[in-house]
Formats: sequence, structure tokens, C-alpha cells
Amino acid sequence: MYQFDEVIDRRQTTSLKWNSAILDETFNNPEALPMWIADMDFRVAPEITNAIMEIAEHGIYGYSDASGAVDSFVRWVKQRHHWTIQSDWVINTPGVVTALDIAIQTFTQSGDKVLIQQPVYYPFRLVVERNEREVIANDLIIQDDTITIDFDDFELKASDPDTKLFILCSPHNPLGHLYSKEDLQKMFDICFKYNVQIVVDEIHGDLIMPGETFFSVGALDEQYSTNIITIQAPSKSFNLAGLQWSAVIIPNQELRLAYQKTVNALDLAIHNPVTIAGVQAAYDHGAEWLDQAVQYIYQNYLYMKEHFAKEIPKAMVLPLRATYLLFVDFSYLGLDDEELDKLFTQEIGLALDSGHWFGDGGSGYMRFNLATPRSNIEQAMNRLVEVLG
Ligand SMILES: Cc1ncc(COP(=O)(O)O)c(C=O)c1O
Repeated sequence: MYQFDEVIDRRQTTSLKWNSAILDETFNNPEALPMWIADMDFRVAPEITNAIMEIAEHGIYGYSDASGAVDSFVRWVKQRHHWTIQSDWVINTPGVVTALDIAIQTFTQSGDKVLIQQPVYYPFRLVVERNEREVIANDLIIQDDTITIDFDDFELKASDPDTKLFILCSPHNPLGHLYSKEDLQKMFDICFKYNVQIVVDEIHGDLIMPGETFFSVGALDEQYSTNIITIQAPSKSFNLAGLQWSAVIIPNQELRLAYQKTVNALDLAIHNPVTIAGVQAAYDHGAEWLDQAVQYIYQNYLYMKEHFAKEIPKAMVLPLRATYLLFVDFSYLGLDDEELDKLFTQEIGLALDSGHWFGDGGSGYMRFNLATPRSNIEQAMNRLVEVLG
């Protein structure tokens, strides 16, 4: 059994999540318990550390070739997601957000519209806007604990001749939602009808809670998997976010060549040997660690869910089907965004991602990162109960 209960001091490191100056700047409380940014407080699988140590001890960190890591990734996709892909369909980028920037730069022009579904991981909006494209949103409908898509609105937005790209977050951050096969196909069919290029961010695709089913793009018929751009990464699954490596799967040659051209123009083809070693070890040896981490996170979720139901029953906890990010609705408090932020950071003492950061539909919610030792979860719950219970 791997040890997920161990509390590892990250305050003394360069961690963005735990750094006191950043907590002070962002939340005006350097002592707040950080459960925001999506990385884990768990030590990675020992095989990953060993592989990195080997490279570190070798002592030469020259230009490196990533094909070994790509081959390991291809095997992983086959084993985990039952999708047979070829190594040469995979293009690496430093991170998933970079991969989204590249998709926008490749498949849209200045002033074009990019379709997203809010509330959603806020860099989706950011990447569109920083590339001087326009966000067009088909916002998700959250009713009680059910998430639905307004397909009429989706079609309306997709049929706008200026809409050139749809970015889907699947599994969904921050809603912890898993789309059904029917919903995926319906959205994709609409995009095909109006020639809207589809990019699916599957960064959370390995973090599926017990009993749930994830439909990766690769689980759909070939017409979908061939023409959609799918982004996966080891960063969330194995806690390697700082190593910055993602895999963009593009089976369609024409799309791939176009995407590769932008990657080349940005000179992103050189890889970091430390990253390559860590990523390859994760995909070759990390499966058992990941399975245990998911079980541990699931128990954290059950703990939170049970304690909310018992002690703060008016807060609505969305079902966590995937990801380690729990979205909880505190709108019963009747506070505006600023008041809710202040309550959490100053009175309760928690540093969380505020729901309103994720765009329309997010106000009133707070997002909790559950990839942390149980004692932190208990501490967070105690702080919540003290003020809201
Ligand atoms: C949906 C989603 N995409 C992308 C990222 C970030 O990926 P990267 O660090 O590889 O850019 C995150 C991180 O939380 C995320 O939740």
C-alpha cells in the first residue's frame, strides 16, 4: 500500500499552492489551508522519483528525445482507455494550456469565436481572450445535482459562422462531471454539421471514481476519434504538473500537420530529460499508485459528503464522478462573490478556487481540492463546521 496519509510540508518549497507570499497575495491570508490549485499533496510513485534521481545523478541535462515517453503513453492509452493510437499521431506540448493556445492559433483567426461551456476551468476563457478571439458560451445547466446541456443553445452558438472551435472539458473541471456517450456524440455531431473543430481536454481522464465510466474520445466511433483533437497528460494523474508535459492526439493527418506547424513555429520540440524520465516511469509503473490514489481521494470525498450532509446540510455537494475537485454550492448563504470569498479566506481560513472564477454559473460555489491527506480534509471540515455548522 502506498502512503497517502503522510503530511509533507510544502510551505518551504516553491509550490504555488502552498507558498505563503502567494497565499497572502491571492487570499490575503498566508495561513489559510490551501485546497486550491489542482496538484496533489501526495508524494509521487517511488518509481518516478527513482527515474528522476537516475537522470539527476547522471549529471548531464542536454537536449533530449521524448519518443520513449511517447511510446509509454501510447501503451497507457491502449491499456487504460482501450484506444489504439500510433506514436506519430502524438504531438507533445509543455502543458495542456499551451496545447489549447496552439489549437486556437492553428484553427482560428483573430476575431473568430471559440465555444466553451461555463462554469469551466478558467484558462479556457483566458486562452481564447489572450489570443484575441472571442468566447461564445453554451453554459451548462446545474439543477440540484444534475448537469445537463442546452442543446438548442449549443446548436445556435455552433451554427454562428464565426464559431470555429469548440473546447470541451471531459471529464469536467470544476463540476466533476462525466459526459454520457450520447451527450458527447450529440455535441460532436452538431460541431461536424457546422464545421467547428473540436478539441477535448481529457487531462482528468485517468481520475475516474469507483463505479463510474469515462468515455474518452477514443471510445467513440472512428469518425469522432479521427477528426477530434484529444489532449491527455500525466500531470493530474500522477502528480507531475510541474514537469509540464502533455500529449496531443491527432489521428487526422491534415489537422496534425497544421498543428505541428504551429508547434514548430514556437520551437517546442525540445524536451526536458527530467520530464521525460518522470513521464515514462509514470506510464510504465504508475498504474497501481494511481488506482490507490483514486481510492484514497474517493474516501476523502465520501468523508466530505457525509459531513456536509450531517453538519452543513444546506450546502449542496455536487457528485464527484471524476477529478479530485469537489464543487460545493454555498448560495444558500445569500452572499455575493466578494462576501463569500471573504468568509472563506478570512473567517473559515481556507484557500479555495472561488466558483465565480469559472465564469457564469459558478457564483456561490467553492471548489475543494481533495488530493490531500485525510488530516487536511478533517481540518478543513472542522474549520467549515465551526463557522457554518
Ligand atoms: C481541465 C484542465 N486543463 C488543463 C489544466 C492545466 O494543464 P497544464 O498544467 O498541463 O497546462 C488543468 C489544471 O488544473 C485542468 O484542470
